[in-house]
Amino acid sequence: MDFLEIARERQSCRAYDPTRQVEQEKLDAILEAARLAPSACNGQPYHLTVCRGEAAKAVAKATMGMGMNKFAAEAPVLIVISEEPYVKTAALGAKVKGNDYRSIDIGIAAAYLTAEAAAQGLGTCILGWLDDEKIRGICGLSRPVRLVVTVGYPADKPRGKKRKSIDELVSVVE
Ligand SMILES: Cc1cc2nc3c(=O)[nH]c(=O)nc-3n(C[C@H](O)[C@H](O)[C@H](O)COP(=O)(O)O)c2cc1C
Repeated sequence: MDFLEIARERQSCRAYDPTRQVEQEKLDAILEAARLAPSACNGQPYHLTVCRGEAAKAVAKATMGMGMNKFAAEAPVLIVISEEPYVKTAALGAKVKGNDYRSIDIGIAAAYLTAEAAAQGLGTCILGWLDDEKIRGICGLSRPVRLVVTVGYPADKPRGKKRKSIDELVSVVE
C-alpha cells in the first residue's frame, strides 16, 4: 500500500475481534513507526506504554467515563501515550513562539503509529477521552497521559471518509 491508500483505509476502529491477539512483530512495527516520527527539535516528548491482559482491561475502563468508548474493552492491546518534558531548545521555542509543540508531537506520533497499524491490517482508535489519574496509577506513570490508542483486529466495516473538501481545507496565496 502506498501512503495515500493507507490514509484512505485507516479509520477509527470501534469493534474488535476478541478472539485474535496482535502478533508481537506487528506490534513492534507500529511502535517502530512511532519511534521514527518527527518532533520539535527532535525532542520526542512522549513515552509509550503497551498494555495487554488485565492492564489493557483496566486502562480501557478508564476511557469509558460517561458511557464513552465501550468498544475499548474488546481491544487486546492499548497503547498509552504520556507526555515527557521538553528538551531545552523545544522548551525555549514553545515559550518564545507561544506554541504547544508537545501536543503536536504526540499527535504526529499517534498518526504514524495508526498509519503503520493500518498497513499491518490492524484496527486502531485514538482516544482522547480518558481518566489521566487512573491510567497513571495502572501504568505507574508520573507524567500526564495524553492519548490512548486501542489496537486489535477489526470487526467493523469500512465506512468511507467524511472530510472537508479540498477547497474548504486549502487556500493558496501567491
Ligand atoms: C486527538 C483525538 C482524540 C480522539 N478521541 C476519541 C475518543 O475518545 N473516542 C472515539 O471513539 N474516537 C476518538 N477519536 C477518533 C475521531 O473521532 C476520528 O478520528 C474522526 O471522527 C475521524 O474518523 P476516522 O478516524 O474514522 O477517519 C479521536 C481522534 C483524535 C485525533
